[in-house]
Amino acid sequence: MNTIQKVALIACAALINSQAWGAEQKQLPKPVMTGGMPVMQAINTRASGRLYDVKRPVDDQTLSELLWVAWGVNTQGKRTIPTARNQQNMKLYLLTPTGTWLYNGPKNCLDRVNGENLIALTATQEFVNDAPVHLLYVAKDDKWGRCHVGSAYQNVYLYAASKGLATVIRGLIDADALTVKLGLTGGERVIAHQTVGWPEK
Ligand SMILES: Cc1cc2nc3c(=O)[nH]c(=O)nc-3n(C[C@H](O)[C@H](O)[C@H](O)COP(=O)(O)O)c2cc1C
Repeated sequence: MNTIQKVALIACAALINSQAWGAEQKQLPKPVMTGGMPVMQAINTRASGRLYDVKRPVDDQTLSELLWVAWGVNTQGKRTIPTARNQQNMKLYLLTPTGTWLYNGPKNCLDRVNGENLIALTATQEFVNDAPVHLLYVAKDDKWGRCHVGSAYQNVYLYAASKGLATVIRGLIDADALTVKLGLTGGERVIAHQTVGWPEK
């Protein structure tokens, strides 16, 4: 392939990608559900990481796997985390500078919620603005909702350990404002925010 063909291919791929993010639904690559670091090693390596490589985006394959470990559906038809009475009543949002997306685990896609940048409502600490991935956990603010969120963010910690990503779960957010912005009702509430990215070198 000559240079002109390569440039055309890259431009085409970028266009397809931007179209996907502009649409109402973004299909995610199939997560790879095998391999990775042995679980004992991942537990032993887990740590919070707040320094991100701002020049290195998180690719769609990695994003898909991050979402899947947190709240996807495995090949047994089970969610990747347990929920009380199998109510499966957690929600996982992805915040981006150009809009908010709701993860649809059964369909392995992201559904567009709005075109707003809600990251500012989570950015009470400077490092947050450097993170390429922003996960927002929503659950019923009842006896078990926060337990479900804890299971999900720990899965993300273990996946991050396995892949060499940095992550931290965060409670220092404007949860009231985010709950209103997302139009949550029926006792649902924004519980926590998790930043993820490749670690700063
Ligand atoms: C529920 C919860 C809320 C947290 N909120 C924040 C936060 O808002 N900002 C932050 O930088 N770290 C936050 N952390 C991360 C803790 O500071 C971190 O887990 C702790 O210092 C232990 O470090 P380690 O995870 O590396 O073991 C939170 C952790 C938990 C479990």
